[in-house]
Order: sequence, then structure tokens, then C-alpha cells
Amino acid sequence: MRRARTPRTPFRLPRITTALAAVPLALTAAVVPAAAAPAPAAERATTERAERGHHGRDTLRDAAPKGFFIGTAVAGGGHHAEQPYADPFAYDVEYRDRMAREFNSLSAENQMKWEYIHPTRDYYNFYPADAIVRYAQENRQVVRGHTLLWHSQNPAWLEEGDFSDEELREILHEHITTVVGRYAGRIQQWDVANEIFDEDGEYREENIWIRELGPGIVADAFRWAHEADPRAKLFFNDYGVESVNAKSDAYYALIQELKADGVPVHGFAPQSHLSTRYGFPGDLQANLQRFADLGLETAITELDVRMDLPEGGEPTAAQQAQQADYYRRALQACLGVETCNSFTIWGFTDKYSWVPVFFPSEGSATVMTEDYERKPAYHALQDTLRSVRGKR
Ligand code: XIL
Repeated sequence: MRRARTPRTPFRLPRITTALAAVPLALTAAVVPAAAAPAPAAERATTERAERGHHGRDTLRDAAPKGFFIGTAVAGGGHHAEQPYADPFAYDVEYRDRMAREFNSLSAENQMKWEYIHPTRDYYNFYPADAIVRYAQENRQVVRGHTLLWHSQNPAWLEEGDFSDEELREILHEHITTVVGRYAGRIQQWDVANEIFDEDGEYREENIWIRELGPGIVADAFRWAHEADPRAKLFFNDYGVESVNAKSDAYYALIQELKADGVPVHGFAPQSHLSTRYGFPGDLQANLQRFADLGLETAITELDVRMDLPEGGEPTAAQQAQQADYYRRALQACLGVETCNSFTIWGFTDKYSWVPVFFPSEGSATVMTEDYERKPAYHALQDTLRSVRGKR
């Protein structure tokens, strides 16, 4: 199995207080011990303001309108396991600190995927996922669970096992019941089914569940997830469904069928891994709206905007501006649809982005540099959120 590593035990950080959050980040470590000394009046006033509420804070979550969730993927597992750094979520203190301040929604980038959470048939590795859910609670963040039925990142014992149809069905049932049940009440949205259709809107052959058990298994997965956590909103999630096209049409038809059969499907989410090689999907809002009109919640779940990097690796000002424009338009599309209340970017710093690993020669896809400098794309999100605050 590729990534069945011994789990590292994540350490716990103290809860991030709003007082601490008002301190410039680079100074945090130095300021903590000195905090006992009496602060000058002006500084005290700032701290008190920060403690009272959100005023004086300058982050994405503070800019978001009430009831709107701005999220990030939590880096760990997957491609990170092959990089020359320790597990970011467990060990990068600055990363954790910023994630707490900037976002009010978190998605497990890999930590809830089968190969990670269910590495052998009889063992569930809950440590990394538990750590995310606990951290989210400590920082008043909601969690998106990702994912339960997918063709990728499945453990070898499953993909290469020799199971009867009944056994396979029971394996999925047990997995969903166990994982969803464990976090019941603590996961806002679950990506129950991920990437089940190909570009032509046909079921993907690589999906072991659908191939072996038939497409009816998708409805069962939603039913089992709903039984295990009746409060979680259950989603279809995919890439390449930002626009109205054959793939999104396939979801549109399937969801109508499932709803007619009383299957608990609650949401549809275009992942939105965008590239400046292609034009912005201008019908994103209209596409989200047609799903909303079916009575569904909608969400953007994995936004990033990659680009071809010039020699030297630094994006030009024009590239940065174009990227900011894509981020802004994606957020505007979501904000323009009443049922779109969750908007997640697939990582917030280039330090940990999956893009250079999966798309050679492309990069700079997130809203902060490797040194956590805010790019124009960050400000585009922040300004857009602020512009609708109180109006939505
Ligand atoms: C990616 C992760 O970011 C990587 O760390 C991992 O190596 C591969 O998967 N669509 C999805 C996500 O639904 O789960 C994928 O995440 C990106 C594409």
C-alpha cells in the first residue's frame, strides 16, 4: 500500500484566543511570554476590541457575511507524504494558526479518504481526522467530510481484494456507517460521492463500487450516510462541472431521479480546480442556480487557479491580476445563488499546494505565497466578501 504510514501523533495547540489573534503573527511567539507585562493604553484598547468581537480583525472569516462559510482544505496525507516536510497540519504551527484565523470551514484534504482512514480491512486510522474535527471545534469552524465513494485513493486491500458482491456491499455499508457515525453532528457537509461521471456523463469504469455493484450503489451510499448522521448535508462533488455540459447534465438528471425516489441528496458541488489556460466558466452561477432550483444546496469545494509559470517561477503582475479575477468571479457566482453558503479553496498557501505535484510547470494556484504573503487573489476574496457583508 502506498501511503499506509504509521500515523504521527498530532500535538495539540492551546485554543487560539481572540486576544492572541490581534497580535501580528510574526510576533506571536515573542509576545506570548511578554503578555503578562502591562500593555500601553492604546495597545490595551486594541486588544479589548479584538476580544469583544470581530472588529479589528482582518481575515477572510471576519469578512464573510453571517451564515456564509469560507473554507480551506487541511494539508496532510496524499502528496504531502512524499514531500520533504513533516505533516503540515500536525507540525506547522504558523500554518495552523493562520488556518484558525482565516477560515470558518475546513475540509480534510486526504485524511478522511479510504486509503488514509481505512488502511487495512480491520483497522480504521482515525487519528488525523479526529485531530481536524477537534481543532475545528476549538476554533469554531465547521467541517466538510471528503469522501465516501470514489474511484481514487482507495487502499490496495480493497482494490485488489477478491470480494463477492455481497461482501463489497457490506464493506461500503460498514465503512460509511463507521466513519459518518463517528463524526455525527460534527460534519456540516459530506461529499458522499466523488467524481462518479466522466466527461461524457457516463459512469466511470474505474469506480470499483459502480463497476462491481451497479449505479444503484450510489443511492445506497446516500441512504447509509443519512442514517449514520441525519443532520449532515449530503453532496455530489466533481471537477469539470462548473459549466452546463454533458457531465453536469448527468448529475442534473441523476439527482432528479434520486430525489423522485426519496433518496437523501442535499447538495451539488463543482470542485472548481481552474486554470488560466482556459477561460473562466462564465455560466458557473447559472449552473449552480439550476441545481439550487431542484431544492439543493450548492457549494464550491476545491477552488484553486493554477497558471503556467514563467522562467524563474514568479507569476507576473498580469497573471496575478487574472488569477484574482478568477477567484473573485467564482466567489461572486456562489454569493449570487441563495443556497450557496459554503466556499472552499483547496489550500491557502503555495507552500502546500497539490498543483505543482500534479500539474508540472503550473503553480502559484492559491491565494498566499509560500511565505504566507497575501496575493491579489486573497484581496479579491476579502473585498468580495466585505462587499456583501450585511447584504446577504
Ligand atoms: C488531491 C490532494 O490535494 C492531494 O494531496 C492528493 O495527493 C490527491 O488528491 N479532486 C478531489 C481531491 O476530490 O480529493 C483531490 O485532492 C484533488 C482533485
